[in-house]
Amino acid sequence: MLVLAIGAHTLAAIVWVGGMFFAHVILRPAMGPMEPGERMALRGRLLPLFFKWVWISIIALFVTGYGVLYFGYDGLSGAGLHVRLMEGLGLVMMLLFGWMYFRPFKLFMQALKQADQKAAAGEFERIRRVVMVNLVLGMVVSVLGATGNFWG
Ligand code: HEM
Repeated sequence: MLVLAIGAHTLAAIVWVGGMFFAHVILRPAMGPMEPGERMALRGRLLPLFFKWVWISIIALFVTGYGVLYFGYDGLSGAGLHVRLMEGLGLVMMLLFGWMYFRPFKLFMQALKQADQKAAAGEFERIRRVVMVNLVLGMVVSVLGATGNFWG
């Protein structure tokens, strides 16, 4: 059971962090030559799909993370420093995503519906910044999680 939980935990991290890496490092520059309106419309189609998977990943990371912590380590007191850091930074990532989803992302979708390109671009910039911060945090957390048993 613990093996399945840590497997699901790792897969969820790959989906979330890998998706942010692809969006930020590959898709963004590749969309450069597109018309601004076309670019926004594409974002309006891809963000809801990606964010649905991020919600699934967050639920999986949360449930399996605390599952492994309480059934595999006897709680935080039995876990190494890397797990405490992962929990803290992981919760920051989840809160940042939640705020971004319910504020800038909702406003972005509304602006697109009203064909207000200027407002959509402003809200997208806020989304992009949160994704950038979460990408860096997600990479740090993943390295901590995967290497921690060797030093934590
Ligand atoms: C609620 C927050 C979280 C908790 C309580 C938690 C808990 C844990 C625990 C207990 C382990 C096993 C550590 C070990 O055996 O040394 C683990 C591993 C791991 N976690 Fe988390 N985690 C959380 C969030 C995250 C997040 C947000 C990510 C990445 C986005 C992440 C990525 C990983 C990775 C990559 C591993 C290593 C898996 C492996 O290769 O062994 N975790 N986590």
